Amino acid sequence: MAERIQFICSRCQATSSKWSGKCSKCDQWNCIEQDTPPVGPSGEEPARPIADVPLDGVQAAATGIAELDRVLGGGLVAGSVTLVGGEPGIGKSTLALQLAAAGSTGSGRVLYCSAEESPAQVAARAKRLEMSSANLWLSATSDVDVLVDEVEELRPGLVVVDSIQTVGVTGMPGGSAALIREATTRLVRMAKRCGVIVVVIGQVTKEGELAGPKSLEHLVDTVLSFEGDRHHSLRFLRAVKHRFGATGEVGLFDMGPKGLRAVTDPSAVFMADRATGVPGSVVVPVIEGHRPMLVEAQALVCTKAMALPRRTAQGLDHRRVSMLAAVLEQRGRLVLQEADVHTSTVGGVRVTEPAADLGILVAVASARMARTVPDDLVAVGEVGLVGEVRRVADMARRLHEAERLGFSRAMVPAAAEVPTTGLELVRVAYVSDALGWLASPALLTATAA
Ligand code: TYD
Ligand code: MG
Repeated sequence: MAERIQFICSRCQATSSKWSGKCSKCDQWNCIEQDTPPVGPSGEEPARPIADVPLDGVQAAATGIAELDRVLGGGLVAGSVTLVGGEPGIGKSTLALQLAAAGSTGSGRVLYCSAEESPAQVAARAKRLEMSSANLWLSATSDVDVLVDEVEELRPGLVVVDSIQTVGVTGMPGGSAALIREATTRLVRMAKRCGVIVVVIGQVTKEGELAGPKSLEHLVDTVLSFEGDRHHSLRFLRAVKHRFGATGEVGLFDMGPKGLRAVTDPSAVFMADRATGVPGSVVVPVIEGHRPMLVEAQALVCTKAMALPRRTAQGLDHRRVSMLAAVLEQRGRLVLQEADVHTSTVGGVRVTEPAADLGILVAVASARMARTVPDDLVAVGEVGLVGEVRRVADMARRLHEAERLGFSRAMVPAAAEVPTTGLELVRVAYVSDALGWLASPALLTATAA
């Protein structure tokens, strides 16, 4: 089958099967270019055995922001479009500008388009963040076609658009979902045609969706979610969709006066201002992406303030906490029905892994029983409804992290296959075992010692 070559007008996007010096639709000269086929299935190739299919040379280029590259599995791919979604004020514009500045240190140009802020504001921020930005160009257009023209002229290697909600299309009413989709579609077409990397920022409301990011997911190659608790400086970057790699990895940043900085040792950060020697605190080794992280789970149990006892969860799954309180009550015979149970993680980190069950449960029990859990202990295991403590994945990495941070004991599921570490193990098969250990006189002596 003959290869079909398409030509496209860079001004009006009209396509033709033959090249000519002048576009027959918009009458402009020297604007016809060969159209690069979009990355992805063309649907025009004959069927063949998988072994005969040549591998696509998809090459990711490092962005210069290590935590972002970690999430992307190397970097950004030419001709691809990445959408970064997040709530207002979380730091999307900061990330966007840092990405643009990092990309502009090489020989290629970077175009940063912000209709939200004036070029003067952006330049001032770049100066304050001490960014070197020799090849960084700023645009303040809010018309996607003007932006496309600017890209055609400047030929940057990277275009950052902040944000898709502020980019308009001539002749379409502002703010509508259809408009945002159309603007994105035009940017995707531009990316494929020019082979330029496009990163688009999208605002997401607390409710999540909004006319925007959700409905754009299928249009773009990669969707990243920038998350965090606004009252804390910790930020998580996760891949929700990634056409060029896996989605499991997580990037960690700290938002400070000089912008976003990589957090390379999260456990050390979380353990830094840990309260010790008080009941209701347990350290849990969780896995975020592929990285183990020690997080402190805290609990407070007090006489109920209202007719119905309350269970609260900050940074934890509320339903999971209610379930664990019920298990403690029913299987552990710990009376909680007249009590409010408050639970929280420390440092603005969100933990949803069932592997944290045992730690949360022990924190609640410790608070209720007024028995301090030794400072040198971590707890890991999933708790079932009949009170059994179940095995969890990645035990080796969790325990090695605990050992690295100086812990010397680990409460683990009785049946867990545990790697050889210097940790002393407290094996528990049931919730009652954990409570028995917490109540034992030996523990009191050990804690006092
Ligand atoms: P911003 O990147 O504007 O968030 P978004 O684009 O997601 O709305 O930044 C959000 C907040 O972060 C802003 O209120 C101030 C703070 N901030 C810092 O703490 N340090 C910095 O270096 C910058 C640029 C902002
Ligand atoms: Mg912004």
